Amino acid sequence: MSVTEQMAPGKPVSASQVEMVQVVLPSDTNPLGNVFGGTVMGWIDLCAAVAAQRHCRQIVVTASMDALSFLAPIRLGYTVILRAQVNRAFHTSLEVGVQVEAENPLTGELEHCCSAFLTFVAIDAAGHPIAVPPVIAQTSQEHERYEEAGLRREDRLKWRHRKKQASQG
Ligand SMILES: CC(C)(COP(=O)(O)OP(=O)(O)OC[C@H]1O[C@@H](n2cnc3c(N)ncnc32)[C@H](O)[C@@H]1OP(=O)(O)O)[C@@H](O)C(=O)NCCC(=O)NCCS
Repeated sequence: MSVTEQMAPGKPVSASQVEMVQVVLPSDTNPLGNVFGGTVMGWIDLCAAVAAQRHCRQIVVTASMDALSFLAPIRLGYTVILRAQVNRAFHTSLEVGVQVEAENPLTGELEHCCSAFLTFVAIDAAGHPIAVPPVIAQTSQEHERYEEAGLRREDRLKWRHRKKQASQG
């Protein structure tokens, strides 16, 4: 069956939304008492994967994570809140956006720590990419994210093309 023939009806962004909470434990921190960047990246990947799976109800794998900047350190004992949603689906891939905030448990103060964009690909049992349902953007913010996801995809595909060419010598 072709990708077009497999196409399922669209789903609203709200169907994929995820909120995940982590408490920063001593094992998550460096000697300064700040969480390891790699630990946050792992949480982002997990949160995004759940959003991708909620959208397509298929097995998904992480194809890429865009450049990630940590804007503020997250301290031991803080509550980390990750929110994810599917911004746009393409053919077999989809973009998930994740926003990460740190909450001071004593004051309730929130600080934006980083945002990330990940691409997931839905695969069948043999590991071959398969079609994903389109995303239905409803709010103005969802429409904005939808349009921006298209621009980011163009950059990713260009980068991928350049990498392939470079590896072929
Ligand atoms: C992701 C994977 C399934 C893509 O397989 P592939 O044979 O390269 O498939 P295709 O070239 O047909 O690409 C499939 C889709 O993925 C997208 N894609 C592939 N690599 C990508 C990347 N690095 N960034 C963004 N999108 C990517 C393609 O644009 C295409 O999207 P579309 O169908 O929506 O247009 C394959 O590379 C893979 O299994 N990678 C390992 C995934 C993994 O193990 N992740 C966990 C981290 S260890």
